[in-house]
Amino acid sequence: MKLVTIIGARPQIIKAAALSRAIRNHYADTIQEVIVHTGQHYDDNMSQVFFDELGIPSPDYNLHVGSASHGVQTARMTEGIEALLIKEQPDFIVLYGDTNSTLAGAVAAAKIHVPIVHIEAGLRSFNKSMPEEINRIVCDHCSTLLFTPTKAGLENLKREGFPIDESGPSTLRLAAGTAGSGSATIDHPKVYHCGDIMYDNSLHFANIAEQKTDIIQRLELGGKPFILATIHRDTNTDHPERLGAIFDALIELSKENQIVLPLHPRTAKLLKTNLSNEKQALVFSSANIKLIPPVSFLEMIALERHAQLVVTDSGGVQKEAYFFKKPGIILRPETEWVEIVETGNAILADADECRILKAWQHFKDNPPTVFPEIFGDGHAAEFILNVMLQQKYNKYETP
Ligand code: UD1
Ligand code: UDP
Repeated sequence: MKLVTIIGARPQIIKAAALSRAIRNHYADTIQEVIVHTGQHYDDNMSQVFFDELGIPSPDYNLHVGSASHGVQTARMTEGIEALLIKEQPDFIVLYGDTNSTLAGAVAAAKIHVPIVHIEAGLRSFNKSMPEEINRIVCDHCSTLLFTPTKAGLENLKREGFPIDESGPSTLRLAAGTAGSGSATIDHPKVYHCGDIMYDNSLHFANIAEQKTDIIQRLELGGKPFILATIHRDTNTDHPERLGAIFDALIELSKENQIVLPLHPRTAKLLKTNLSNEKQALVFSSANIKLIPPVSFLEMIALERHAQLVVTDSGGVQKEAYFFKKPGIILRPETEWVEIVETGNAILADADECRILKAWQHFKDNPPTVFPEIFGDGHAAEFILNVMLQQKYNKYETP
């Protein structure tokens, strides 16, 4: 079986490690993976570092699209991916998440009838002003096999008319599938609730991170409590008022806490124009705010494991905080990962100084202790590959 995997943005490269590892460990003789990097992210610390560190094979192709407006960037990727799909003739294209690289892969593949496997299907913010919401809806509705990490994802797909077989056993994965007989097609897609491949990765790499990184020592954090923060959403970075309010909260928190803030390149650039000179001076001169370049994934999970709390607008980072049983303050008005808010382990604070500080106080007074297992069993990648193999070789068997 031949797969073409599309990656491009940082979180997709990291996600791809789980599937590549499962292929290497269990299906090396059966599955050929052709990796296409769109080049959406290109700085070494946004791309190459993950190949070096996580055992992901080097990309077979790099489209080098770089940064551009949504339309231009997506168009360049679509053109490149279409040509490669025609050349490679894969059984499936594998798409992750909701970036422009995902959208381009979906549009290119659906039009020339290459079946799409969407990993991280079904997530919704119900906010179509987010570019990611458009990308994920289009991708889901062009897909043949949809793998959703959460129960909320499954419910969203059901609401949008995807066929969900609820008569099966009530275990994760099987309950959720449209697992009846017949092979899946774009017009008869199949949905599986399989858990989160990033949970696979976090479990796999947690101890390796502890052994192989020295970021805690390097930042002189050993033994001292600290807050880990990340900010990169365009809704936060591109609006001076919102960026200012987030930094007001961080400046306030830094009076009593150390803060580690690995800066996404988008944020690094926009801090200079969208944060007032006065706030920049406070932030850059603060001994308690450690602004650092993007870190590697192993360093990031070491930071997440040692932090007392995580403040973020990242999808991946809010979840990883949960994986490592840390409370999270989400710098957005809504989240696709609703379960972590419903269990009381994360709070939506938007870009609102008061709400951020109130959430901090809440978690200081009531540190959460119960983090139910809602992201699967750490073997989502193997399950996904099994379903693909059954689709190709044994079309009428239920996984
Ligand atoms: C993209 C995704 C977002 C995801 C994020 C993960 C879309 C629409 N957005 O947002 O869903 O959460 O990746 O990090 O696909 N830049 C560099 N070096 C790089 C990459 C980017 O300097 O290696 C700068 C450029 O100025 C670029 C800006 O960051 O214009 C934004 O990059 P882009 O990929 O367009 O969007 P992200 O904000 O990274
Ligand atoms: N991450 C990383 N280094 C960093 C910041 C984030 O390795 O400096 C990882 C993080 O652990 C998570 C992923 O990148 O696995 C999340 O990516 P990002 O926040 O860029 O995007 P999102 O998940 O919001 O799409």
